[in-house]
Amino acid sequence: MNTKLVLLATACALALGLALPSRSKTIQLPPDGTQLKASALPGYAKAQGNCVACHSAEYMLYQPPTAPRPYWDAMVKRMKQVFNAPINEADMPEIVDYLVKTYGNEQPR
Ligand code: HEC
Repeated sequence: MNTKLVLLATACALALGLALPSRSKTIQLPPDGTQLKASALPGYAKAQGNCVACHSAEYMLYQPPTAPRPYWDAMVKRMKQVFNAPINEADMPEIVDYLVKTYGNEQPR
């Protein structure tokens, strides 16, 4: 096939594409309202009070379900030490317990 012809055809197609009236674009972002998974564990209410003020509970969903207790412990400490989350030391074990049993490797299967 003639290379020049192909190039010409491509150029025409591109020009056509550019010339088409641009349709208005709408971008749908997922709602940032993910709630923490309900639980009877005491850490649930504490996590609601301490863990969703800065970001939604969606962040928990992106953590590996294989993450063990020390991982969540470090995560909670990181929130406090690095991002100044006002979490009571006394509430931490229950929050970690809730997190690892709800999002980590201690989930009931
Ligand atoms: C003071 C605000 C604040 C509070 C309160 C807070 N976080 Fe965060 N969290 C952040 C910031 C800032 C990031 C980092 C966001 C980024 O990297 O884009 C983050 C990120 C995360 C992530 C994503 C993984 C990572 O390491 O970046 C997880 C999971 C998370 N937080 C869990 C928690 C949990 C659990 C709690 C409650 C114990 C909590 N957060 C409370 C501010 C907070």
